[in-house]
Amino acid sequence: MAQDENWLEACAADDIDEEDVIRFDYEDRSFAIYRSEDSEYFATDGHCTHEKVHLANGFVMGKIIECPKHNGRFDYTTGAVKKAPACVDLKTYPVKVEAGKVYIRIG
Ligand code: FES
Repeated sequence: MAQDENWLEACAADDIDEEDVIRFDYEDRSFAIYRSEDSEYFATDGHCTHEKVHLANGFVMGKIIECPKHNGRFDYTTGAVKKAPACVDLKTYPVKVEAGKVYIRIG
């Protein structure tokens, strides 16, 4: 996996459909990488803040990710909680797309 100044190559831009999410694991951490309906890319921690369920198994609706376990919702562009039972915001990470690859900065 390419690494440059804390930017990690996560996937190819085309690996994620519009309005969808995929999982990206790095060392002992797990992230969720999102592509919005207007093809902007975002990254958050992979696990819901309510219980340790991976959000990449959830549903993307506009700018919202819905957790697959109890249907808590977050705005994946800001990490803000939008629906209980989740009550702690998600951590978000900077994302850039270069030459068809998606990079996230986790440092
Ligand atoms: S585990 Fe995500 S809302 Fe409960």
